[in-house]
Amino acid sequence: MMYTKLTLLVSLLLLMLIVKEIKPRVEFTNLKCRSVNKDFAEFTQCTLKSINRTYKYISTKVSLHKLPITKARVNFGLYKRFNGYRPFLYNKTLDACHFFQHQKANPVAKYFFDMIKEYSNLNHSCPYNNDIIVEKVSTDTVNHHVTKILPYPEGDYMLETHWMLNDIYCGVIQVYITLF
Ligand SMILES: *[C@@H]1O[C@H](CO)[C@@H](O)[C@H](O)[C@H]1NC(C)=O
Ligand SMILES: *[C@@H]1O[C@H](CO)[C@@H](O)[C@H](O)[C@H]1NC(C)=O
Ligand SMILES: *[C@@H]1O[C@H](CO)[C@@H](O)[C@H](O)[C@H]1NC(C)=O
Repeated sequence: MMYTKLTLLVSLLLLMLIVKEIKPRVEFTNLKCRSVNKDFAEFTQCTLKSINRTYKYISTKVSLHKLPITKARVNFGLYKRFNGYRPFLYNKTLDACHFFQHQKANPVAKYFFDMIKEYSNLNHSCPYNNDIIVEKVSTDTVNHHVTKILPYPEGDYMLETHWMLNDIYCGVIQVYITLF
């Protein structure tokens, strides 16, 4: 009797571990990119792709028409859905050119940047002389960051970034994510 209960408990725990291992806690629900000044910068790609049930990724490409980019600022904020999306955490404006050389001084920005840096050509400081590419950032990558490094509570979130390049407001990217 004791033995069966114990076996059952162990099996249940194992099952929970396995399910937790397989099931991602993160789901991309939407991706929106809006160019504000197409003469300057234009999104040529902004896609959320589902390859199968477990492999989903987002990709964006920005074509820059006035090179080089010597100044880049980004404002970012994390929103959470209550009745509509409300500001939840962070409202920071970052000098991206400065950030590249002093990443440790800005742990919050580093946290978000670490999710995409391996998947982008943003691995150097200013100036930029090419289009910007962020390719195939998968749910697994984001999952690793939000659940293992800095856990957030369940819910629907939206990460909004506004981009200013060479002092010109160029556009906004919104990544919608559900944590469950
Ligand atoms: C999902 O697609 C990826 C990439 O093609 C593949 O490696 C993985 O095995 C697939 N998973 C399932 C459950 O089909
Ligand atoms: C962030 O701060 C700026 C400047 O203080 C303000 O204009 C903007 O509305 C704020 N955004 C959010 C989402 O709180
Ligand atoms: C950036 O990435 C390119 C291409 O992968 C590589 O050749 C280059 O050395 C990298 N630069 C830095 C500073 O990591």
